[in-house]
Amino acid sequence: MNPSRPLVLIVDDNATNIDLLVNTLKADYHLGIAKNGLNAVAYAVKHKPDLVLLDIMMPEMNGYEVCARLKANSETASIPIIFITAMNETVSKTRGFELGAVDYITKPFHTAEVKARIQTHLSLEEMRLQLQSQNLLLAHQVEQKTAEIREILDASIRSMAQMIEIRDPYTAGHMQRVAQLACAIAEKMGLETGVVDGIRIAGILHDVGKIRIPVSILSRAGRLLDAEFEMIKIHPQIAFDILKDIPFPWPVAQMVFQHHERLDGSGYPQGLSGDAILLEARILAVADVTEASSSFRPYRPARGIEAALAKIAEQKGKRYDADAVSACRDLFIDQGFKFDADNADSAPWL
Ligand SMILES: [Fe+2]
Ligand SMILES: [Fe+2]
Repeated sequence: MNPSRPLVLIVDDNATNIDLLVNTLKADYHLGIAKNGLNAVAYAVKHKPDLVLLDIMMPEMNGYEVCARLKANSETASIPIIFITAMNETVSKTRGFELGAVDYITKPFHTAEVKARIQTHLSLEEMRLQLQSQNLLLAHQVEQKTAEIREILDASIRSMAQMIEIRDPYTAGHMQRVAQLACAIAEKMGLETGVVDGIRIAGILHDVGKIRIPVSILSRAGRLLDAEFEMIKIHPQIAFDILKDIPFPWPVAQMVFQHHERLDGSGYPQGLSGDAILLEARILAVADVTEASSSFRPYRPARGIEAALAKIAEQKGKRYDADAVSACRDLFIDQGFKFDADNADSAPWL
């Protein structure tokens, strides 16, 4: 809105009407005058008046047409339009409102009425603009707060992962790389960014439950004893217990709980099969087994990525989700996927 005095555009082909309106309004408003529809549209686009008084019956382009054009242009669409009609004109008031006009004034004019109606609509427009800017401000604040919360969430997750790293560097580096690969697989499968964000967090934390397993077992060279393997198998449940009360906007605790489940029901701890396993967990499983098989473990040497890819291909659609396996293989074979060098700092065995 123009700061000192609002600008009102008077559109009328009749000089007497224009004079009347000018005399009524000149003390309170800046005034613009257009004597035909085309000039009115051009004036409105150029000067952005705060309100338009628009005669309906004009030669060439009538008021309805002017109104439609102003409403169709995003630069002038929000300007309030008040139609002017003569009492004896048979015009459709509904049509004017349908086109977006806010009010009608009838001729002959009553000075006080004209002033009151214009004032009312200018105040309404001012309130609308204030509301709009308040909404923008609120939206900005919400965005800022969301970014802050997101940062706190990321930092908390990083520190959780770091706690694991202090105790068990193999697992920490592994979780980072699984998160990276699982996100790449999910993106390749066309999952939405919002879903991929959840997979990233679940990936970074998926083996957090190993915190309950003695380091002597985690870092022991050679094959695990059956009893030791049984102990390892509790880690999805432990992770679930740790994460289940965090109100993530994704089912992170469930994804982590299910990352050792297998399509054919041969996994653990619940022995789920098929669609009973979350898609996110099926993706994590492929990323997990690919990373784990390709890199060094205390109990065996690194087998390399070719062996890992062969292993998931062999079980494609059996133990592992077929789409996730295809996406994972495409990433390495066609797109030269590599694990981030950053993660290699905390995982020097890569
Ligand atoms: Fe695991
Ligand atoms: Fe894992």
